[in-house]
Amino acid sequence: MSAASRTVPSPYQLGTVYDMYTPFYKAAVNTTSLHRGFYEGPEDRTRFAAAVDRLTRRVAEEFGVGTGDRVLDIGCGTGQTDLLIAKETGCCITGVNVGGGQITIARLLAETAGMAEQLLFEMTDGVRHPFADDSFDAVLFFESFVYMPDKEQALAEAMRCLKPGGTVMVVDSLEVTERVDEEWRAYMRESLMWYPSSLADLADSFNRAGIRTKSVVDLTENTADGYRRAHEEALANRDEVIRFFGKKMADTMLEGLGTLVSTLEGRMQYVLVTGTKACS
Ligand SMILES: C[S@@+](CC[C@H](N)C(=O)[O-])C[C@H]1O[C@@H](n2cnc3c(N)ncnc32)[C@H](O)[C@@H]1O
Repeated sequence: MSAASRTVPSPYQLGTVYDMYTPFYKAAVNTTSLHRGFYEGPEDRTRFAAAVDRLTRRVAEEFGVGTGDRVLDIGCGTGQTDLLIAKETGCCITGVNVGGGQITIARLLAETAGMAEQLLFEMTDGVRHPFADDSFDAVLFFESFVYMPDKEQALAEAMRCLKPGGTVMVVDSLEVTERVDEEWRAYMRESLMWYPSSLADLADSFNRAGIRTKSVVDLTENTADGYRRAHEEALANRDEVIRFFGKKMADTMLEGLGTLVSTLEGRMQYVLVTGTKACS
């Protein structure tokens, strides 16, 4: 077995971890959206669940899709984010994920909201998927790109299924290279399955994939505190978390969230990067 095949886990393993964390998130911070929250500033005391939806709305605004556009959301979580983007913009979304539990929740949410025609969910690897060439108007990676070890393949597959002139958007945490080292990167890979790029790496990857960068929006200031707020709320809801998971598991999960806060602190920026597939 090569070193690479030993260290890169299957994305489906990650899907299982997320399936397990989804009910924890719901009990701890009352949301099934699995991304950061958006805060106006240090005085903003918005609850995490509302801050998370605020970030989704900000992404929907920047994404620029409209009624009837076909969107592929790679790493769609539980689909809660897609529900909101589809409501805000009128687009139709196909969400893919490597976690079967999340896909089940996504289908239930879409059905319950009466949006099952507008929102489809499939369990498949977003880096090698079955969708036809030139079949989507836009592709979204919302906090999923960081989990993809092979960024070139992820973007090549996105480009394959994107129509000429279509939009690619990456919303994610990027490493601030001068504040991290190899030890930190190894920890991120091995403990969190994160493979962060820097902004310069992402710009290069876009170029090589034939994507013209249209805009870069830096939301570091608005999101940096997000996991700390989530951790504080989760600790305040510890009894509820214990009720669902038992004390040992609850404390392990709460501690994990606390470790995430300290690991990321000051080392990552948070960006919305939007690009266009050349019309050739
Ligand atoms: C941080 S969560 C974000 C979920 C969702 N985009 C949201 O904003 O709520 C990352 C998601 O990416 C999914 N994921 C990671 N790698 C993937 C891959 N190769 N293919 C499909 N989904 C993937 C995980 O299962 C998880 O649901």
